[in-house]
Amino acid sequence: MKVWIVHDSQMGNGENLAKTMGKTFEKDMEVNIGHVKKIDPAKVVADSPDIIVVGAAVRAFMTSFTSRKWIRKLHKELQKANKTVKIGATFLTHVMKKEMVNGRGNRLNKLLAKSPNVIAVYPEYLSGKVVAAEGPFEEYVLGDAEKLAAEVLKLSKKK
Ligand SMILES: Cc1cc2nc3c(=O)[nH]c(=O)nc-3n(C[C@H](O)[C@H](O)[C@H](O)COP(=O)(O)O)c2cc1C
Repeated sequence: MKVWIVHDSQMGNGENLAKTMGKTFEKDMEVNIGHVKKIDPAKVVADSPDIIVVGAAVRAFMTSFTSRKWIRKLHKELQKANKTVKIGATFLTHVMKKEMVNGRGNRLNKLLAKSPNVIAVYPEYLSGKVVAAEGPFEEYVLGDAEKLAAEVLKLSKKK
């Protein structure tokens, strides 16, 4: 079993979240982590992962364009290769209150779920609220990330 986690981290928080999830996954799976600007979705598809987690950040009130573009390319590559991913999940790092970014997080999740080649998407995006733009995370966030990874892992074993 294999998982790919991609993020759009500039100041290290998103990468930290990805690595925290990775630690939970690595008990049972091969884990790969990378930046959306450096990892080609075609490479991820060629690697046939069971799980894909995509992270984005809210900057200037927008969800990272690069992460959204990455998801769209992923859909095309999955279709081209006629491959499926068992489970997808998303996370969003932000400094504004969670209630202010729920719409963006839910849309990111829906975007990943749009492809029939992604069999299931964990129903809730993970909110990675930072205390200030450069971090750190609010104290509960990394615990939430571990829990989400454990849930996703459990689901992937049922599929
Ligand atoms: C230029 C800039 C603009 C930002 N604008 C927002 C914003 O509109 N809303 C928000 O919630 N967070 C905003 N943030 C905070 C980022 O979401 C936060 O720094 C980022 O998610 C942390 O992730 P990273 O360390 O992985 O880059 C902004 C940060 C920067 C640097």
